Amino acid sequence: MTPKQWIIHNPDGDHRVIVTKELPGTRWLDVLTASDCRVEICTSDQVLTFGEISERIGESCDGVIGQLTETWNAELFDVLATAGGRVYSNYAVGYNNVDVAGATASGIPVGNTPGVLTETTAEMAISLTFSAGRRIAEADRFMRGGEYHGWLPAMFMGMRFHGGTVGVIGAGRIGAAYGRMMVEGHKMNLVYFDLHPNESLERYVSDYSEFLAERGEDGVTARRTETIEELLRVSDVVSVHTVLDETTHHLINAERLAEMKPDAILVNTSRGPVIDEAALVAHCRTHPQFTAGLDVFEDEPAMMPGLADLDNVVIVPHIASATRWTREGMATLAAANVAAMVQGYPLWDSDDVLPFLSGDTPHAAPSIVNAADLNIE
Ligand code: DGY
Repeated sequence: MTPKQWIIHNPDGDHRVIVTKELPGTRWLDVLTASDCRVEICTSDQVLTFGEISERIGESCDGVIGQLTETWNAELFDVLATAGGRVYSNYAVGYNNVDVAGATASGIPVGNTPGVLTETTAEMAISLTFSAGRRIAEADRFMRGGEYHGWLPAMFMGMRFHGGTVGVIGAGRIGAAYGRMMVEGHKMNLVYFDLHPNESLERYVSDYSEFLAERGEDGVTARRTETIEELLRVSDVVSVHTVLDETTHHLINAERLAEMKPDAILVNTSRGPVIDEAALVAHCRTHPQFTAGLDVFEDEPAMMPGLADLDNVVIVPHIASATRWTREGMATLAAANVAAMVQGYPLWDSDDVLPFLSGDTPHAAPSIVNAADLNIE
């Protein structure tokens, strides 16, 4: 294997921080420099192996900013802890690639980057919804293929969203933002499935409905369903926003796909394995009116055989959070988690992380997922 190239920022810094990919923007580097960190950044596009990461950690390393494409297991946290590591920061809001219990056992705080992906990721879910439902990618291929020989009354007919029902599975930050966008923008009724009621989302929709009523327009509704099956049966569009863990692996399987309307839209911007991709390929083959919009895949970067041949599926390469503002913000939050743990700062006591993105960086860690288990306050 060709050795990977690394660049060093602030070589005289006292605390050694490894960053396994180049990150966008410069604020994140300023945050680490201000905390007296020497930053070693891998310039390769390839995913680093366990061996490459542990070799780079070496005998002394204070912290790492890693990627969702890497497997951070208990063994790797042991390597980091043995090198004197004080923090691992995942450059993502999701952390299914991280064995958090393993990190906790080694005494390593795990950071993530919530609060800067919410609208950006929801906007991608919206884009996939409309691309799938209005057959944008398919029609684009048709045009480029020189197949358009004139307007026809029944060409590329898709879904009318206005007044339909949108189903959100997982009504956390991103799911709720997507739900609000579909309700507000397209006057859809919302159903959601979540282990916990999202009262603020329900209140938002009912306030919006009152606003519509004052204007003499039809109202909209929001309600939590008892089961996923109920949501699937009533929804014209279903968007998946759960975390990936053992309870959500293949949450959408062949049986549940069969519950959906034959011309429904299924969107996934969460994690690929939440959908049984082989079952989805089979379902899309037998239900040509069914459409799907996927940002994530079960075995990334690979796709299930047959998926790429389906005209009723729109596929993009895990780019839901890919706007400059968001990706630079994620870098800043990832760096701030490292800086805070290295300096012994407390946890940030609010969900609003915007103060980290401009002006003086707060002396706090924006998000440490195992803080409670490690008694970090
Ligand atoms: C995340 O942060 O979890 C996204 O999948 C990538 O930005």
